Amino acid sequence: MTTGGGSDAGGGPGAGGGPDAGDGPDPGGGPGAGPGGGPGSLSGRAALITGASRGIGLAVAEALTADGAAVCVTARDPKGLADAVRRLGPRAIGCPGDVADPAHPEAAVARALAEFGRLDILVNNAATNAPLGPLMTVDPLAWRSAFTVNVEAPLRLTQAAWRAWMRDHGGAVVNICTEGTDGVGPGIGAYGTAKTALLRLTRQLAAELAPSVRVNAVSPGLVRTEMARFVWEPDEREIAATLPMARIGEPEDVAHAVRWLVSAEASWITGADLVVDGGRRVRAARRIG
Ligand SMILES: NC(=O)c1ccc[n+]([C@@H]2O[C@H](COP(=O)([O-])OP(=O)(O)OC[C@H]3O[C@@H](n4cnc5c(N)ncnc54)[C@H](OP(=O)(O)O)[C@@H]3O)[C@@H](O)[C@H]2O)c1
Repeated sequence: MTTGGGSDAGGGPGAGGGPDAGDGPDPGGGPGAGPGGGPGSLSGRAALITGASRGIGLAVAEALTADGAAVCVTARDPKGLADAVRRLGPRAIGCPGDVADPAHPEAAVARALAEFGRLDILVNNAATNAPLGPLMTVDPLAWRSAFTVNVEAPLRLTQAAWRAWMRDHGGAVVNICTEGTDGVGPGIGAYGTAKTALLRLTRQLAAELAPSVRVNAVSPGLVRTEMARFVWEPDEREIAATLPMARIGEPEDVAHAVRWLVSAEASWITGADLVVDGGRRVRAARRIG
Protein backbone atom coordinates (compact mmCIF):
# COMPACT_ATOMS: atom_id res chain seq x y z
CA MET A 1 0.00 0.00 0.00
CA THR A 2 1.58 3.22 -1.07
CA THR A 3 0.54 6.43 0.52
CA GLY A 4 2.90 9.25 -0.13
CA GLY A 5 5.77 8.44 -2.46
CA GLY A 6 4.03 6.65 -5.29
CA SER A 7 5.41 6.69 -8.78
CA ASP A 8 5.07 10.35 -9.53
CA ALA A 9 6.70 11.76 -12.58
CA GLY A 10 7.86 15.20 -11.61
CA GLY A 11 6.94 16.97 -8.40
CA GLY A 12 4.54 19.70 -7.48
CA PRO A 13 2.16 19.87 -10.44
CA GLY A 14 -0.25 22.01 -8.46
CA ALA A 15 -3.82 22.73 -9.43
CA GLY A 16 -3.78 26.46 -9.17
CA GLY A 17 -6.16 26.40 -6.23
CA GLY A 18 -5.96 25.20 -2.65
CA PRO A 19 -8.03 24.77 0.44
CA ASP A 20 -8.40 28.53 0.67
CA ALA A 21 -9.23 29.10 -2.96
CA GLY A 22 -12.51 30.52 -1.71
CA ASP A 23 -14.78 28.97 -4.31
CA GLY A 24 -17.47 27.76 -1.90
CA PRO A 25 -19.49 24.64 -2.68
CA ASP A 26 -19.23 23.93 -6.36
CA PRO A 27 -20.85 20.83 -7.79
CA GLY A 28 -18.47 20.53 -10.72
CA GLY A 29 -18.21 23.65 -12.77
CA GLY A 30 -19.56 26.94 -11.48
CA PRO A 31 -17.33 29.70 -10.12
CA GLY A 32 -13.72 29.19 -11.02
CA ALA A 33 -14.40 26.79 -13.86
CA GLY A 34 -14.17 28.03 -17.41
CA PRO A 35 -17.31 28.46 -19.49
CA GLY A 36 -18.73 25.22 -20.89
CA GLY A 37 -16.17 22.57 -21.74
CA GLY A 38 -13.01 22.61 -23.79
CA PRO A 39 -9.36 23.52 -23.21
CA GLY A 40 -8.89 25.43 -19.96
CA SER A 41 -12.40 24.76 -18.68
CA LEU A 42 -11.07 22.54 -15.87
CA SER A 43 -8.06 24.69 -15.16
CA GLY A 44 -7.50 24.98 -11.40
CA ARG A 45 -9.44 21.77 -10.78
CA ALA A 46 -8.03 18.52 -9.38
CA ALA A 47 -9.23 15.01 -10.14
CA LEU A 48 -8.66 11.49 -8.78
CA ILE A 49 -9.17 8.70 -11.31
CA THR A 50 -8.89 5.07 -10.23
CA GLY A 51 -7.61 2.40 -12.60
CA ALA A 52 -6.03 4.87 -14.97
CA SER A 53 -2.83 3.22 -16.18
CA ARG A 54 -4.55 2.11 -19.41
CA GLY A 55 -7.91 1.78 -21.14
CA ILE A 56 -10.84 4.00 -20.24
CA GLY A 57 -9.27 5.39 -17.06
CA LEU A 58 -6.17 6.60 -18.90
CA ALA A 59 -8.34 8.17 -21.63
CA VAL A 60 -10.36 9.97 -18.93
CA ALA A 61 -7.15 11.26 -17.34
CA GLU A 62 -5.96 12.47 -20.76
CA ALA A 63 -9.25 14.23 -21.45
CA LEU A 64 -9.29 15.98 -18.06
CA THR A 65 -5.67 17.10 -18.29
CA ALA A 66 -6.34 18.37 -21.84
CA ASP A 67 -9.01 20.64 -20.32
CA GLY A 68 -6.58 21.89 -17.68
CA ALA A 69 -7.20 19.66 -14.64
CA ALA A 70 -4.46 18.23 -12.45
CA VAL A 71 -4.92 14.49 -12.02
CA CYS A 72 -3.97 11.81 -9.51
CA VAL A 73 -4.21 8.39 -11.14
CA THR A 74 -4.16 4.94 -9.54
CA ALA A 75 -3.54 1.31 -10.55
CA ARG A 76 -2.03 -1.76 -8.87
CA ASP A 77 1.05 -2.17 -11.09
CA PRO A 78 3.48 0.65 -10.20
CA LYS A 79 5.40 0.33 -13.48
CA GLY A 80 2.32 0.64 -15.67
CA LEU A 81 1.18 3.57 -13.55
CA ALA A 82 4.54 5.33 -13.81
CA ASP A 83 4.38 5.00 -17.61
CA ALA A 84 0.89 6.52 -17.60
CA VAL A 85 1.97 9.41 -15.38
CA ARG A 86 4.84 10.18 -17.75
CA ARG A 87 2.44 10.12 -20.69
CA LEU A 88 -0.02 12.41 -18.90
CA GLY A 89 2.62 15.07 -18.32
CA PRO A 90 3.46 17.59 -15.62
CA ARG A 91 -0.04 17.97 -14.13
CA ALA A 92 -0.23 14.25 -13.24
CA ILE A 93 0.83 12.23 -10.21
CA GLY A 94 0.38 8.54 -9.42
CA CYS A 95 -0.73 6.68 -6.31
CA PRO A 96 -0.21 2.94 -6.81
CA GLY A 97 -2.51 0.62 -4.91
CA ASP A 98 -5.44 -1.76 -5.00
CA VAL A 99 -8.86 -0.18 -4.53
CA ALA A 100 -9.83 -3.39 -2.69
CA ASP A 101 -7.37 -2.48 0.05
CA PRO A 102 -9.50 -0.65 2.65
CA ALA A 103 -6.61 1.74 3.36
CA HIS A 104 -6.13 2.75 -0.28
CA PRO A 105 -9.10 5.14 -0.79
CA GLU A 106 -8.06 7.34 2.15
CA ALA A 107 -4.45 7.22 0.99
CA ALA A 108 -5.27 8.15 -2.61
CA VAL A 109 -7.47 11.05 -1.52
CA ALA A 110 -4.79 12.23 0.93
CA ARG A 111 -2.18 12.01 -1.82
CA ALA A 112 -4.26 14.17 -4.17
CA LEU A 113 -5.04 16.70 -1.43
CA ALA A 114 -1.39 16.91 -0.37
CA GLU A 115 -0.24 17.54 -3.94
CA PHE A 116 -3.03 19.72 -5.31
CA GLY A 117 -4.60 21.27 -2.19
CA ARG A 118 -8.07 20.34 -3.45
CA LEU A 119 -10.11 17.49 -4.98
CA ASP A 120 -12.98 18.53 -7.22
CA ILE A 121 -13.50 15.41 -9.32
CA LEU A 122 -13.55 11.68 -8.50
CA VAL A 123 -13.87 9.07 -11.24
CA ASN A 124 -14.45 5.56 -9.90
CA ASN A 125 -13.21 3.57 -12.88
CA ALA A 126 -11.16 0.62 -11.52
CA ALA A 127 -13.11 -2.63 -11.69
CA THR A 128 -12.86 -6.37 -12.11
CA ASN A 129 -14.94 -8.67 -14.30
CA ALA A 130 -13.85 -11.73 -12.29
CA PRO A 131 -15.09 -14.26 -11.37
CA LEU A 132 -16.36 -15.24 -14.81
CA GLY A 133 -18.61 -18.25 -15.27
CA PRO A 134 -22.00 -19.58 -14.24
CA LEU A 135 -23.03 -18.44 -10.78
CA MET A 136 -23.65 -22.01 -9.56
CA THR A 137 -19.93 -22.71 -9.79
CA VAL A 138 -18.73 -19.34 -8.52
CA ASP A 139 -16.82 -19.30 -5.25
CA PRO A 140 -18.76 -16.99 -2.92
CA LEU A 141 -15.50 -15.45 -1.71
CA ALA A 142 -14.57 -14.52 -5.30
CA TRP A 143 -18.08 -13.13 -5.70
CA ARG A 144 -17.51 -11.01 -2.63
CA SER A 145 -14.25 -9.67 -4.05
CA ALA A 146 -16.12 -8.46 -7.15
CA PHE A 147 -18.34 -6.41 -4.86
CA THR A 148 -15.33 -5.17 -2.85
CA VAL A 149 -13.67 -3.77 -5.98
CA ASN A 150 -16.73 -2.69 -7.97
CA VAL A 151 -19.07 -1.37 -5.25
CA GLU A 152 -17.40 -1.03 -1.86
CA ALA A 153 -14.31 0.76 -3.17
CA PRO A 154 -16.31 3.47 -5.00
CA LEU A 155 -18.25 4.05 -1.78
CA ARG A 156 -15.07 4.27 0.29
CA LEU A 157 -13.48 6.65 -2.23
CA THR A 158 -16.55 8.88 -2.30
CA GLN A 159 -16.67 8.93 1.49
CA ALA A 160 -12.98 9.86 1.67
CA ALA A 161 -13.34 12.60 -0.97
CA TRP A 162 -16.47 13.94 0.74
CA ARG A 163 -14.86 14.15 4.16
CA ALA A 164 -11.57 15.57 2.93
CA TRP A 165 -12.85 18.19 0.47
CA MET A 166 -16.17 17.85 -1.31
CA ARG A 167 -18.51 18.26 1.70
CA ASP A 168 -17.23 21.81 2.18
CA HIS A 169 -16.20 22.76 -1.34
CA GLY A 170 -18.41 20.76 -3.70
CA GLY A 171 -17.41 18.41 -6.46
CA ALA A 172 -18.42 15.89 -9.08
CA VAL A 173 -18.24 12.09 -8.90
CA VAL A 174 -18.59 9.77 -11.90
CA ASN A 175 -18.93 6.02 -11.47
CA ILE A 176 -18.11 3.88 -14.49
CA CYS A 177 -20.84 1.26 -14.68
CA THR A 178 -21.73 -0.77 -17.79
CA GLU A 179 -24.38 -0.79 -20.48
CA GLY A 180 -24.83 -4.44 -19.47
CA THR A 181 -26.79 -3.53 -16.35
CA ASP A 182 -29.80 -3.32 -18.66
CA GLY A 183 -29.90 -7.07 -19.18
CA VAL A 184 -28.17 -10.36 -18.47
CA GLY A 185 -25.40 -12.22 -20.25
CA PRO A 186 -23.64 -15.57 -20.00
CA GLY A 187 -20.74 -15.88 -17.57
CA ILE A 188 -20.77 -12.35 -16.23
CA GLY A 189 -23.21 -12.73 -13.34
CA ALA A 190 -20.86 -11.46 -10.63
CA TYR A 191 -19.72 -8.47 -12.70
CA GLY A 192 -23.21 -7.55 -13.86
CA THR A 193 -24.72 -7.84 -10.42
CA ALA A 194 -21.98 -5.75 -8.83
CA LYS A 195 -22.20 -3.08 -11.54
CA THR A 196 -25.97 -2.92 -11.11
CA ALA A 197 -25.34 -2.30 -7.42
CA LEU A 198 -22.90 0.46 -8.38
CA LEU A 199 -25.59 2.11 -10.51
CA ARG A 200 -27.98 1.97 -7.57
CA LEU A 201 -25.25 3.36 -5.30
CA THR A 202 -24.76 6.22 -7.77
CA ARG A 203 -28.40 7.24 -7.49
CA GLN A 204 -28.44 6.94 -3.72
CA LEU A 205 -25.31 9.06 -3.36
CA ALA A 206 -26.63 11.62 -5.86
CA ALA A 207 -29.57 12.26 -3.56
CA GLU A 208 -27.57 12.18 -0.34
CA LEU A 209 -24.75 14.48 -1.49
CA ALA A 210 -26.81 17.07 -3.39
CA PRO A 211 -26.69 19.97 -3.87
CA SER A 212 -22.97 20.37 -3.24
CA VAL A 213 -21.76 17.22 -4.97
CA ARG A 214 -23.10 15.76 -8.21
CA VAL A 215 -22.89 11.96 -8.62
CA ASN A 216 -23.48 10.40 -12.03
CA ALA A 217 -22.78 7.18 -13.91
CA VAL A 218 -21.34 6.58 -17.34
CA SER A 219 -22.25 3.17 -18.76
CA PRO A 220 -20.04 2.00 -21.63
CA GLY A 221 -20.92 -0.63 -24.17
CA LEU A 222 -18.14 -2.75 -25.67
CA VAL A 223 -14.91 -0.74 -25.70
CA ARG A 224 -11.51 -1.69 -27.14
CA THR A 225 -9.58 -2.29 -23.89
CA GLU A 226 -7.71 -5.14 -22.22
CA MET A 227 -10.60 -5.99 -19.92
CA ALA A 228 -12.92 -6.65 -22.86
CA ARG A 229 -10.34 -8.09 -25.27
CA PHE A 230 -11.74 -11.61 -24.87
CA VAL A 231 -15.08 -10.30 -26.20
CA TRP A 232 -14.09 -7.99 -29.08
CA GLU A 233 -10.90 -9.53 -30.41
CA PRO A 234 -12.36 -12.75 -31.85
CA ASP A 235 -15.49 -11.15 -33.34
CA GLU A 236 -15.00 -7.41 -33.76
CA ARG A 237 -16.44 -7.13 -37.28
CA GLU A 238 -19.47 -9.23 -36.47
CA ILE A 239 -20.15 -7.29 -33.26
CA ALA A 240 -19.68 -3.92 -34.99
CA ALA A 241 -22.16 -4.95 -37.66
CA THR A 242 -24.86 -5.38 -34.99
CA LEU A 243 -24.38 -1.87 -33.61
CA PRO A 244 -26.29 1.14 -34.99
CA MET A 245 -23.04 3.15 -34.93
CA ALA A 246 -21.28 0.32 -36.83
CA ARG A 247 -18.17 0.12 -34.66
CA ILE A 248 -17.12 -0.89 -31.17
CA GLY A 249 -16.19 1.87 -28.75
CA GLU A 250 -12.81 3.46 -28.19
CA PRO A 251 -11.70 4.58 -24.70
CA GLU A 252 -12.00 8.21 -25.84
CA ASP A 253 -15.72 7.78 -26.55
CA VAL A 254 -16.26 7.13 -22.85
CA ALA A 255 -13.71 9.71 -21.71
CA HIS A 256 -15.48 12.50 -23.57
CA ALA A 257 -18.74 11.67 -21.79
CA VAL A 258 -17.00 11.75 -18.41
CA ARG A 259 -15.31 15.05 -19.25
CA TRP A 260 -18.65 16.60 -20.12
CA LEU A 261 -20.38 15.27 -16.99
CA VAL A 262 -17.79 16.85 -14.69
CA SER A 263 -17.86 20.17 -16.58
CA ALA A 264 -19.90 23.27 -15.89
CA GLU A 265 -22.16 22.35 -18.82
CA ALA A 266 -23.57 19.49 -16.73
CA SER A 267 -24.02 21.49 -13.53
CA TRP A 268 -27.75 20.62 -13.23
CA ILE A 269 -27.27 16.90 -13.83
CA THR A 270 -27.06 14.45 -10.95
CA GLY A 271 -28.17 10.85 -10.47
CA ALA A 272 -28.04 10.30 -14.24
CA ASP A 273 -26.70 7.32 -16.17
CA LEU A 274 -25.12 8.39 -19.46
CA VAL A 275 -25.07 5.32 -21.71
CA VAL A 276 -22.20 5.35 -24.24
CA ASP A 277 -22.75 2.18 -26.23
CA GLY A 278 -22.89 2.93 -29.96
CA GLY A 279 -26.63 2.37 -29.82
CA ARG A 280 -26.51 -1.21 -28.50
CA ARG A 281 -29.65 -0.77 -26.41
CA VAL A 282 -31.69 0.36 -29.42
CA ARG A 283 -30.27 -2.10 -31.93
CA ALA A 284 -33.44 -4.20 -31.99
CA ALA A 285 -35.11 -1.44 -34.04
CA ARG A 286 -32.25 -1.21 -36.54
CA ARG A 287 -33.36 -1.54 -40.15
CA ILE A 288 -31.75 -4.58 -41.74
CA GLY A 289 -30.82 -4.35 -45.42
N1 LIG B 1 -14.02 -2.21 -21.91
C1 LIG B 1 -15.31 -2.39 -21.93
O1 LIG B 1 -15.88 -2.91 -22.92
C2 LIG B 1 -16.15 -1.92 -20.77
C3 LIG B 1 -17.54 -2.03 -20.91
C4 LIG B 1 -18.34 -1.59 -19.85
C5 LIG B 1 -17.75 -1.08 -18.71
N2 LIG B 1 -16.39 -1.01 -18.60
C6 LIG B 1 -15.85 -0.45 -17.37
O2 LIG B 1 -14.87 0.52 -17.69
C7 LIG B 1 -13.93 0.61 -16.60
C8 LIG B 1 -12.52 0.56 -17.14
O3 LIG B 1 -12.31 -0.70 -17.76
P1 LIG B 1 -11.29 -0.91 -18.96
O4 LIG B 1 -12.02 -1.69 -19.97
O5 LIG B 1 -10.62 0.35 -19.30
O6 LIG B 1 -10.25 -1.93 -18.24
P2 LIG B 1 -8.69 -2.13 -18.44
O7 LIG B 1 -8.23 -1.70 -19.78
O8 LIG B 1 -8.44 -3.54 -18.02
O9 LIG B 1 -8.05 -1.14 -17.37
C9 LIG B 1 -8.31 -1.30 -16.02
C10 LIG B 1 -7.49 -0.33 -15.22
O10 LIG B 1 -7.83 -0.46 -13.83
C11 LIG B 1 -6.68 -0.86 -13.09
N3 LIG B 1 -7.18 -1.75 -12.04
C12 LIG B 1 -7.75 -2.97 -12.20
N4 LIG B 1 -8.08 -3.47 -11.01
C13 LIG B 1 -7.72 -2.55 -10.08
C14 LIG B 1 -7.78 -2.51 -8.67
N5 LIG B 1 -8.30 -3.52 -7.96
N6 LIG B 1 -7.31 -1.41 -8.03
C15 LIG B 1 -6.77 -0.38 -8.74
N7 LIG B 1 -6.68 -0.37 -10.07
C16 LIG B 1 -7.14 -1.46 -10.73
C17 LIG B 1 -5.74 -1.48 -14.11
O11 LIG B 1 -4.37 -1.43 -13.75
P3 LIG B 1 -3.68 -2.60 -12.83
O12 LIG B 1 -4.00 -3.90 -13.52
O13 LIG B 1 -2.24 -2.26 -12.81
O14 LIG B 1 -4.32 -2.49 -11.50
C18 LIG B 1 -6.00 -0.57 -15.31
O15 LIG B 1 -5.33 0.66 -15.15
C19 LIG B 1 -14.31 -0.52 -15.64
O16 LIG B 1 -15.10 0.01 -14.61
C20 LIG B 1 -15.13 -1.46 -16.50
O17 LIG B 1 -16.01 -2.24 -15.75
C21 LIG B 1 -15.59 -1.42 -19.61
